[in-house]
Amino acid sequence: MSDLPIVNIGICGLGTVGQGVWKHLTRSRATLEARLGARLRLKKASVRSLTKKRGVRVAPTKLTTDPMAVATDPSIQIVCELIGGTTVAKDVTIAALRLGKTVVSANKALVCGHGPEIFAEARKHGGHYFFEASVAGGIPIIKALREGLVANRFDRIYGILNGTCNYILTRMEREGLAYPVILQEAKALGYAEADEALDVEGWDTAHKASIIAYLAHGSWVPTKAMNVEGITQLTQTDILYARANDLAIKLLAVIERDLATDELSVIVAPILISRNKVIANVNEVYNGVSVTGDVVGETVYIGRGAGQDATSSAVISDIVDAAALLLRGNAALPEPVEHHCPRRPPERSFGSYYIRLDVRDEPGVLAKISAATAKFGVSIASVQQSASARANAATLMLTTHETNEKAIRSAVAQLRRLAGVLGEPLLLRIASFGE
Ligand code: HSE
Repeated sequence: MSDLPIVNIGICGLGTVGQGVWKHLTRSRATLEARLGARLRLKKASVRSLTKKRGVRVAPTKLTTDPMAVATDPSIQIVCELIGGTTVAKDVTIAALRLGKTVVSANKALVCGHGPEIFAEARKHGGHYFFEASVAGGIPIIKALREGLVANRFDRIYGILNGTCNYILTRMEREGLAYPVILQEAKALGYAEADEALDVEGWDTAHKASIIAYLAHGSWVPTKAMNVEGITQLTQTDILYARANDLAIKLLAVIERDLATDELSVIVAPILISRNKVIANVNEVYNGVSVTGDVVGETVYIGRGAGQDATSSAVISDIVDAAALLLRGNAALPEPVEHHCPRRPPERSFGSYYIRLDVRDEPGVLAKISAATAKFGVSIASVQQSASARANAATLMLTTHETNEKAIRSAVAQLRRLAGVLGEPLLLRIASFGE
């Protein structure tokens, strides 16, 4: 064993995920070393506090408060960036890559915001950048897209990419609780981001959707070019409506490419989806991704999308790939060739919609609403009414026949201005994937 080559690993950031990687890599090291024919050594880790109590035992001599010291340590070949954010994390990533090292990351915001620059640094200096843990926690979706499904072009990829929101929506439905209560539990379980707004306002899903769009289509779609909506406006009224109509509400990323026109659309939004779909039945912290390829057809991936263990599983898989690459020079498949797809305009995005709005409970209100939507060619398919928390008011839940995104947005803007409509209407898409 002593003659075997040694691969030294450094970890920048020993938080929830960093500790998980340390714990599971320590446990599985003998097996992985036997498979690799090399020794894996956890050499150093950076922490914010040297005195903080942690769930893993790390020799004090291996700890430093300086992540850059880990990233630039000449003996370390694989640097795991598990700090998060896009400031220090970016600096240590670039510094390590400029030294020709391999960087393993779980940082979706960094890949989404600075992917091209990071990949260019890796190429230029002969290093590599692995980021399996950045999307869908323990599901090897990046490997699936980059390797297993390489024969395909993808007209639709959709799914649940945020464990925190799926956990919240599942418990809202099962227990009738409001989301802020459940969010506290998601935080305690280590699912939520340090800034939980990234989860509940949809940005974390958007970062992951951007990475998937790039891997599937070679096209970078920045989050500011996406329609991004979170789950904060959802209430029990919407959840109960969904259940009564054999639907589920899921925060979905939907990435569609028209293979004829090349137009690409990436949206993140809570969407009503038929319970007949596998993704509608993916609950709790699980993520689920449906990938439809023109050769393979539909494939579906399900697994834990957040939390220490699931994310560590993905990070360790990248560490082992990185070690194999260093030891044997196995060529990792390069990133996709960049290809700019034009964005699909709203007037060519078709679907049916759900609108929930509070109205004054008086004669003629419904007529005014249908006149307002008709002005934009939006036809109402169904109307349900329930009691409103407001005095002398009712809550209406409307669905529309198929229309386009431009028309429905104009119609909702008109409804907002209508006398008799109280507060902000909620607009949700109703998915018709493959139906
Ligand atoms: N906050 C993220 C989630 C963690 O809930 O999915 C995993 O990326």
